[in-house]
Amino acid sequence: MKAVVLKKCCKAEDLQISEIPVPEVRSGWVLVKVYAAGLNHSEALLRMFEADNDYIATPIVPGIECVGEIADASDTHFHKGDKVIALMGGMGRSFNGSYQEYALLPAHHVFKVDTDLDWLSLAAIPETYYTAYGSLSECLMLRQGDILLVRGATSTVGQAAIQLAKAMGATVMAACRKETSFEKLQQIGADFCLIDDGHISEQPLPIKPNKILELVGPKTLRDSLLTVSHPGYVCSTGVLGNVYTVRDFDPIKYIPNGTFLTGFFSNFPTQQVIDDLFALIREAHIRPLYSRVFTLDEIVQAHTLLEKGGAGGKIILTLHS
Ligand SMILES: NC(=O)c1ccc[n+]([C@@H]2O[C@H](COP(=O)([O-])OP(=O)(O)OC[C@H]3O[C@@H](n4cnc5c(N)ncnc54)[C@H](OP(=O)(O)O)[C@@H]3O)[C@@H](O)[C@H]2O)c1
Repeated sequence: MKAVVLKKCCKAEDLQISEIPVPEVRSGWVLVKVYAAGLNHSEALLRMFEADNDYIATPIVPGIECVGEIADASDTHFHKGDKVIALMGGMGRSFNGSYQEYALLPAHHVFKVDTDLDWLSLAAIPETYYTAYGSLSECLMLRQGDILLVRGATSTVGQAAIQLAKAMGATVMAACRKETSFEKLQQIGADFCLIDDGHISEQPLPIKPNKILELVGPKTLRDSLLTVSHPGYVCSTGVLGNVYTVRDFDPIKYIPNGTFLTGFFSNFPTQQVIDDLFALIREAHIRPLYSRVFTLDEIVQAHTLLEKGGAGGKIILTLHS
């Protein structure tokens, strides 16, 4: 079968297609026929900087998520032909991931899905919509009537969060860097758009959010804590601002009274949360968003775009049609 095998850090143009054997199933693992896979910035970072580290199991097939069908259920609860999604848990880092036609994956990170979506739309969902949904439901406990501010709203996770939050009954404020993005964000469902100048707490807002999804990250986190109403909740999920930690974190002074700070990490999906996410997508008729589609043979073009940015949404790799 065809696969992209990464032996060490390299440039996008050095990525190649190899012929490798279809993996043999083993207890607790399932063989998935990969139909499509969403690409993620972390896969560009793996190729550029991380692959030479001991904690990456090189040679490795990258790819932290995929959608497909069970080709061999081994001794698990799955059945051949089940439609599934898989994500995280070491996929594409500790064991071979989704840039291949068949993937051997641990059953506990593979989830059955009840959906009529086509493979490309389905491939837009796993990491992106799970991250958005987990942040909104598990962390921000988003409820009907809440006023949610999404910072970094033009990102793929941001756009998914706008769609999901609207479906959950919230009023959605979307903050981004360019006024030219407002129209697109409103089409997705944002009720109100604003420019993120890093100091939203100092802007005269027509309404005050009681919940904030922080995708810019530690760079604007303190400003988010000052922006949210009391009681208010802030979930730090993204790091678009390229600042990864809060220096000299003093919780007493950093987090205002009556403000709740939480974080989300997509490494721990469960079948229940995936079921809830797909039920919401189905019932609210949410159309999963993606921007560009490449075949596995076009991996160089796909990774070049991933690294450069500017795709404007999820990039999808197709493996079987
Ligand atoms: N916690 C987790 O488990 C988890 C899981 C998945 C993703 N993430 C994180 O979530 C974030 C979003 O991921 P993604 O895949 O959706 O990203 P993405 O689609 O690659 O987002 C890129 C877009 O974000 C906007 N952006 C970039 N820097 C920005 C900044 N400083 N302020 C505001 N907007 C900025 C840009 O749009 P414009 O050019 O239009 O401004 C850019 O095109 C990333 O930081 C990612 O690492 C976290």
